[in-house]
Amino acid sequence: MLTITPPPGQRRGQAGLRRSLTTLLAAMAAAAALAGPVAAQSGDSAPETVQSTTTIPRAVELGDVEHGRELWEFECAACHEMGPGAGDGIGPQLNRVFGRRAAAVADFPYSDSIRRMGRDGLYWTFRTLDAYIENPYALVSGTRMSYAGLDDEGDRADLLAFMRLYSDQPGDIPEAEPTARRVEVELPPEVLEIRGDREWGEFLASECTTCHQRDGAAAGIPSITYWPEDRFVVAMHAYREGLRPHQVMQNIARRLTDEDIAALATYFATIDD
Ligand code: HEC
Ligand code: HEC
Repeated sequence: MLTITPPPGQRRGQAGLRRSLTTLLAAMAAAAALAGPVAAQSGDSAPETVQSTTTIPRAVELGDVEHGRELWEFECAACHEMGPGAGDGIGPQLNRVFGRRAAAVADFPYSDSIRRMGRDGLYWTFRTLDAYIENPYALVSGTRMSYAGLDDEGDRADLLAFMRLYSDQPGDIPEAEPTARRVEVELPPEVLEIRGDREWGEFLASECTTCHQRDGAAAGIPSITYWPEDRFVVAMHAYREGLRPHQVMQNIARRLTDEDIAALATYFATIDD
């Protein structure tokens, strides 16, 4: 087990403890969401027709399907296809994306980054899709999907309600999964605004560089140097909240406070200065 020992005089307060508990709960919910994914399937067995939404009974309404359809056309359809005969475009086809493992469409030239997340066990669920659509880099740092993100939570729910129609049995996909409501994952702006203490970051970084190369070489373990700080911060929070699947990184991130993460982001962004 890897522990990050604060130097004398630095201690975690009550707030930190409470925060870790909330995080743990969120992570447990995420683990449950990751537990029962269905096998990935390719697009050629796509359903012939997409049933009308009014006939589909659902335990929980995710959102407004009609509005979701408009958002899909406007935000996603330039790069992705769904439905009978959907093929790959700039992005992979997204039939049956709920329950599908990340980077599972054969022959699509995915980024190494999303392939790695898929190997680690990232599955597309309501929660992970929501996070990816909100900010693709939070989940997949090196993603090739150049999409700025859909900010409004209600819009994302509408869009996902529409996309869910293109899953196997839209009314009956494992209920605990696509219908599961999101757990608190958004980073309050205060967190992104924390100014990192570079010296503290340097101190903490000695643990990280037992695995990650200081010079940014990425031999098996990805490089974490010279990232934009906000991208580093969201990545670490995504591990801490269990949105990113890698167990070791989750454990490491859960021991860090918001200030620790900001400090590390600053340090690694400027490691040679
Ligand atoms: C500019 C083109 C573009 C736009 C717009 C875009 N995407 Fe993507 N998307 C991609 C690319 C390229 C990838 C592959 C990412 C990679 O390789 O890292 C991708 C990957 C994905 C994946 C992961 C698929 C898999 O097989 O793991 C999902 C889910 C996704 N996009 C959903 C969406 C949704 C929903 C929208 C609209 C809100 C959207 N995308 C908008 C290009 C785009
Ligand atoms: C025991 C080895 C190990 C240690 C120690 C470690 N990491 Fe990692 N880290 C990894 C591995 C392996 C990955 C790839 C995980 C994945 O695929 O999600 C990773 C991924 C990451 C990523 C995401 C990279 C990407 O491209 O998506 C960040 C950011 C990160 N680590 C930061 C840190 C920080 C900060 C520390 C120190 C506090 C740290 N790591 C300590 C092994 C480690």
